[in-house]
Amino acid sequence: MNVKDILSRMTLEEKAALCQGADFWHLVDFPRLGVPRMMVSDGPHGLRKQNEQADHLGINESIKATCFPTAAGMACSFDRELMQRMGRHLGQTCQAENVGVLLGPAANIKRSPLCGRNFEYFSEDPYLSGEMAAAHIQGVQAEGVGTSLKHFAVNNQETRRMSVSAEVSERALREIYLASFEPAVKKGKPWTVMCSYNKINGTYSSENPWLMNTVLRGEWGFDGAVVTDWSACNDHVAGVAAGIDLEMPRSGDKHDRELAEAVRSGNMDENVLDMACENLLNLIARYEENRRENATIDLQEQHQAAREIAREAMVLLKNDGDLLPLDADKRIAFIGKFAEAPRFQGGGSSHINTAYVLSALEAVKEVCPVTYAQGFVTDKDETDAALLNEAVQTAADAEVAVLFLGLPDAFESEGYDRTHLSLPQCQIELLNAVAQVQTNIVVVLHNGSPVEMPWIDKVPALLEAYLAGQASGGAVVDLLFGTASPCGKLAETFPLKLEDTPCHLNFPGFRDKVVYAEDVYVGYRWYDARKMDVLFPFGHGLSYTTFQYSNLRLSADTFAGGELTVSVDVTNTGKRTGKEIVQFYVRPEKPGIPRPVRELRAFGKIELAPGETGTVTVTLDSRAFAVWAEEIHDWFVEPGAYAIEAAASSRDIRLGASITCTGKPLPIHVTADSTIGDLMAIPGAEPIVQQLMGGMAAHYGGDGQSDEASAAISPEMIAAMVKDMPLHVMCAYGGDAFPREQLDGMIAYLNQIQE
Ligand code: BGC
Repeated sequence: MNVKDILSRMTLEEKAALCQGADFWHLVDFPRLGVPRMMVSDGPHGLRKQNEQADHLGINESIKATCFPTAAGMACSFDRELMQRMGRHLGQTCQAENVGVLLGPAANIKRSPLCGRNFEYFSEDPYLSGEMAAAHIQGVQAEGVGTSLKHFAVNNQETRRMSVSAEVSERALREIYLASFEPAVKKGKPWTVMCSYNKINGTYSSENPWLMNTVLRGEWGFDGAVVTDWSACNDHVAGVAAGIDLEMPRSGDKHDRELAEAVRSGNMDENVLDMACENLLNLIARYEENRRENATIDLQEQHQAAREIAREAMVLLKNDGDLLPLDADKRIAFIGKFAEAPRFQGGGSSHINTAYVLSALEAVKEVCPVTYAQGFVTDKDETDAALLNEAVQTAADAEVAVLFLGLPDAFESEGYDRTHLSLPQCQIELLNAVAQVQTNIVVVLHNGSPVEMPWIDKVPALLEAYLAGQASGGAVVDLLFGTASPCGKLAETFPLKLEDTPCHLNFPGFRDKVVYAEDVYVGYRWYDARKMDVLFPFGHGLSYTTFQYSNLRLSADTFAGGELTVSVDVTNTGKRTGKEIVQFYVRPEKPGIPRPVRELRAFGKIELAPGETGTVTVTLDSRAFAVWAEEIHDWFVEPGAYAIEAAASSRDIRLGASITCTGKPLPIHVTADSTIGDLMAIPGAEPIVQQLMGGMAAHYGGDGQSDEASAAISPEMIAAMVKDMPLHVMCAYGGDAFPREQLDGMIAYLNQIQE
């Protein structure tokens, strides 16, 4: 396709028509211009290709496809290659089904564990989320299929997702919410980005030129097409003007007419429309060029891959007394409906119609006989006495009881948020009853987001399976019996209770506003800053072996930009082969700018045989040290000492090494409202500060003029009082001795010495 030539031959009406879908899943085709019809489909962890009866809530049928683990679990793998491997399967599936763009991945931050869609999101940490999203994109697109990075941006709740305004500071936007998309765009280079439904600080994402043009295209270099979330387009003309190329799905003729009319009447420059069309034609051209006509996939092979991938996406949270791995010679009971019918995906637009599902009860047949009791129902939260009694008896007769618990479908889904963090009461009742007759309890959890665990002390072993895709049961059995050692680590904090969560008082907001008052203190950044106990910290995950860290080394002890190489040796000190995820946090030692205690800036994963030592090496650049400074609307590295920490979790810091960042302090734009305290931080301002302090000491009578006054007010007290005094007030106190012209001159000088 010669895009420029096609564009030059398009009529205004054709251009306007191209800017919205042909129907629910297709872009408009133009046979006379050689522009083919391209299909897009959900995503993100499987292909939901629909034929008839399209919908975006996962209600109607779609083709049979493989459901891989959802993002919540994939993020726990901290494994870019694994994510890419899954992405390649997704891309191959799209090729086989002639789908041009897979609608995913979703890189929204898990602001609250209540968000109904958290299973589809990666993490509370933007670095991890961004890296995983980038890897997903790279995997899919390596197969010549596009992705749609979504939902850009700040879509962190389902409540009123189509109208709510996320009120968020510039700094939190940059450091947390946009930061989660930034590497995905820069490294992943998605063919498309999908805008979110919500407003950000009062402006719909679908009408936000700053978001789409200034940040996404201008700063991040995005060269693809921007598509609306399904029906997120409110004002099509405003949307196209703001950098939205495609409205999905088709909303009717009205928008075509409005767009053409806007150009005709001179309200929109035709170049703006041309730009949108060029982006879309480029997208279709990419699809056309990369199409593999005869591509096929093997669903059985994908099923096996889904099992292998799921093993690395589960987290062993607790294993007291090494209850796991299980001894296949013991009498083992599987209890709970999810053993037979695992919950392995979430509800909504990502819902996959699978060809196979492997339950743990089915998979365990290859290992050993187990007894089974259903224990509870999942269609309502009510205890069934007969099922409960049967389960207790089954547990009592066994040597180990493995309880398959979790959140039923209705408890979490796209489209609405959770209202509490509890497991269903009927499951808690079952657990309590089993604990009366059995101490060897293993719980396997099936959930898309954390649950509270007031029952945790009754459970020596706990495996978090998340929503691990169609082969979930196979992976659970592999881990329970030690075919593989668990290696996942939590990509989110498990809080002790809902009330502890960072945005508890501001979720989901009131009417059409939700205030992000916790600012950058999201997830572990919050719990660490407040020194709060948590149930399981970010980055936590056990293995059947143990690892020792040694020899943390940095390529330099000062940093002035460029790259810093960080290495640490890891030794497998246990008896089995295992994989360790090493997390690297950066902790400013004495920050002048308020900021989180520590932040994840790199990670690596290494497989080691017993006794083996290997090295994990990562690189850090200046972003690893930077904050977003609202004063300068840019990233800024505060000079000073920082610790680089090699850690097994955010609360298990194994080693630290110090480095000094050099550079100038953050400039202060001095005005008459600046305080003397502000001036104290300006290098070279000392003589002025002293002069002003002297003046104030005289004003307060603390300069020795009156003994009584001197005794009542010490120089330290004066300094403390004066610190927050603005210059214009000092000028007023100074009277004729400190004229305004002198103050203006002083301000000009102070601004000049900082340039
Ligand atoms: C969801 C998107 C999805 C789209 C199409 C929307 O409701 O938010 O994630 O891709 O529907 O199904």
